[in-house]
Amino acid sequence: MDSVRVRLMREDDLPSAERASAVTFFEADRGTRRVSEPEVEPRSSVASKQWIDRMRFCLGVDPAGCWVAVKTDEGADRTVGFAISQNRGGLWFLATYGVLPSHQGQGIGKRLMDAALAHADGRPGIFSSSVHPGATRRYRLAGFSLHPQMRMVGVVDRSTLPAVDGLREGRADDFEWMDGLDQDLRVAGHGPDHGYMLDTLRLVVSRDRARPGYVYIDDRGRASLLAAAERETAQRLLWEALASAQGNTLVNCITTPNEWAVDVGLAAHLDIGQEGYIAVRDMPVPAPYLASGHFL
Ligand SMILES: CC(C)(COP(=O)(O)OP(=O)(O)OC[C@H]1O[C@@H](n2cnc3c(N)ncnc32)[C@H](O)[C@@H]1OP(=O)(O)O)[C@@H](O)C(=O)NCCC(=O)NCCS
Repeated sequence: MDSVRVRLMREDDLPSAERASAVTFFEADRGTRRVSEPEVEPRSSVASKQWIDRMRFCLGVDPAGCWVAVKTDEGADRTVGFAISQNRGGLWFLATYGVLPSHQGQGIGKRLMDAALAHADGRPGIFSSSVHPGATRRYRLAGFSLHPQMRMVGVVDRSTLPAVDGLREGRADDFEWMDGLDQDLRVAGHGPDHGYMLDTLRLVVSRDRARPGYVYIDDRGRASLLAAAERETAQRLLWEALASAQGNTLVNCITTPNEWAVDVGLAAHLDIGQEGYIAVRDMPVPAPYLASGHFL
């Protein structure tokens, strides 16, 4: 263990950190896969590139929250663990966290989490947690409340899709009110994360500023992040995402205060599943809100 150093991440760590992340989550997903679920596939080259792009962005915005555990072999550092956290205004979030299976259970995860949490400097915090017993133990001991999440899966029955009105495509000049809504729901705006998401995702917003809301939809028609001032707007935004869903779809990160999303999923004939936790400290569980796995 002594040969492992925990230090701030640098840009040249990204390829080796990505490989560590791919191996760690492949093994973790294999270990927690239910028999009814498909075999876990290794991360694709497209997803590897997206991981590196996203982490480079985090490193550019808030480098002091990005930590790696490294081993030095023949003069080169090899990543064996990573904890990428970020502060946005008064909110801290954890974008990703892992230790290579071959190095788990040796206290490296604790050292990484201590470094990331020191960066929070007492801010309220939020992240999406796996069910890994080492991870959940660490989070609860750090004062986070773990809220179980549901997810809706299946193929949308298109005969159930309602006519949805009052929405339009979102643009960069919507970010200001979107940040205000974020602030009401989860302590702080997403700030620069909105620009990053708009580059890669479709943004749909509520036309009515008195009942604001927005959803980012990925290229497979899945809602990646949804925020609204009230349930009815949230439901219309989720229906819009479901209308563009292709094949098997997924609505993720649904906590009990967000049962409005379960009701939409059931009406579309999706099935309820269960997946991990939303971990929060010193803040309520956001609602009406479906968190983004990476930007919370
Ligand atoms: C979660 C993870 C990062 C922890 O890293 P690690 O280096 O194994 O953690 P540590 O050795 O520092 O142990 C952390 C704590 O969990 C406990 N722990 C570790 N593995 C455990 C296990 N399999 N079962 C129960 N407790 C465990 C340790 O005893 C320790 O508790 P303590 O500090 O009170 O003694 C690592 O296991 C991992 O990458 N898991 C797979 C990916 C994942 O789930 N990431 C989290 C995403 S939110």
